[in-house]
Amino acid sequence: MLKNKTIILGVTGSIAAYKAAEITSWAKKQHADVNVIMTKNAQYFINPITFETLSGNKCLTDTFDRNFQYNVEHVELAKRADLFVVAPASADFIAKAANGIADDMLTTTFLASTCEKLIFPAMNTRMYENPITQDNIAKLKRFGIKVIEPGAGYLACGDTGKGKLLLIEDIEEHILLHAAYDHDLSGKKILVSAGPTCEDIDPVRFITNHSTGRMGYAVARNAARRGADVTLVSGPVSLKEPVGVNTVHVTSAQEMFDEITAVSDEQDIIVMTAAVADMKPVNKAAEKIHKVTMPDAIKLTTNPDILSYLGANRREGQKIIGFSMETENLVENSRLKLRKKHCDMIVANCLKVAGAGFGTETNVVTLISADRMQELPIMSKDEVAEKIFDFIQKDC
Ligand code: CTP
Repeated sequence: MLKNKTIILGVTGSIAAYKAAEITSWAKKQHADVNVIMTKNAQYFINPITFETLSGNKCLTDTFDRNFQYNVEHVELAKRADLFVVAPASADFIAKAANGIADDMLTTTFLASTCEKLIFPAMNTRMYENPITQDNIAKLKRFGIKVIEPGAGYLACGDTGKGKLLLIEDIEEHILLHAAYDHDLSGKKILVSAGPTCEDIDPVRFITNHSTGRMGYAVARNAARRGADVTLVSGPVSLKEPVGVNTVHVTSAQEMFDEITAVSDEQDIIVMTAAVADMKPVNKAAEKIHKVTMPDAIKLTTNPDILSYLGANRREGQKIIGFSMETENLVENSRLKLRKKHCDMIVANCLKVAGAGFGTETNVVTLISADRMQELPIMSKDEVAEKIFDFIQKDC
């Protein structure tokens, strides 16, 4: 996903420096050209050879590189970099960067780079919370440099609090958000619904379905990576909130309807991947229903059809995308749904096809608009998400 991207990874003197090896290895696997620059103190925690082996590039350090040739090399690197990441970033580095101090290879290259910059602080809680550090962070942000809030927890120094290097998977997602795509959805507001809804029978039981939310979360992630301002309205799932996405949690179809329609007018694109329960019990029992008082039947009523509402109440220029899950006559039934619900596109998948549907890492879908159809082979849900937005941009 990072093919043809040049990433500079600055590593500073923090116990978390060893974790930068994992970032290097991951970025290399994503086909990035990774160039690590270490401060002198970082080298007390991890050896440059680790980064050279993992990245396949020379690891720039002060001790090795104080000669003319490398000096030229690091300025050239600063010019061609697509993204400058500093992880872990010590309080000392943040202070220097905020004040334009360029007294080593890392700070010099940082000052010479004009590309987007991401800083991931890692330090003792008191150092992080010190108003001087906070002031330095605020200053960096004023200059458009992204300083991502660190994690909280038990720190190597024995304290507990804020200052832990963010989880590596979250750092990786931040990198993808900034470097994976050309941000062709920048300036667009996109709402995605995901997961099942749960309709309460009593305080203990509910009606739901097998949706895991994976497809919708992949759609939200892809939109965010392409630069969109994304809101994800999610039913109950066990997935982590996607980085860079505003996630709103709901339980029932009515709650999902309320949350979506409250902001639907602002959206440029709405993708309804949620498996909204079509029906709910007419009454929710106030107390748990016991075996002895169990009714013979539960009376059901219909839920609002959110997609139909959005199709019928769309604002000018808005694109509405629906999903269709069928067990037979996939294209025919999906075309019907496209017209009935006034959508611009339907993503159709057949539950009976291997690798499609609920709970899988993959999907097999057909993209259908009023005058176009694209059958896709089996692919990951992330790839399907990418194809959906490609289709929206070009064909509907
Ligand atoms: N949908 C919705 N609100 C509902 C039911 C479904 O917004 N109450 C949306 C889903 O998010 C999906 C699309 O409608 O994008 C298709 O849902 P599906 O269950 O396949 O179709 P239904 O309209 O429920 O039709 P049927 O049950 O007859 O297949």
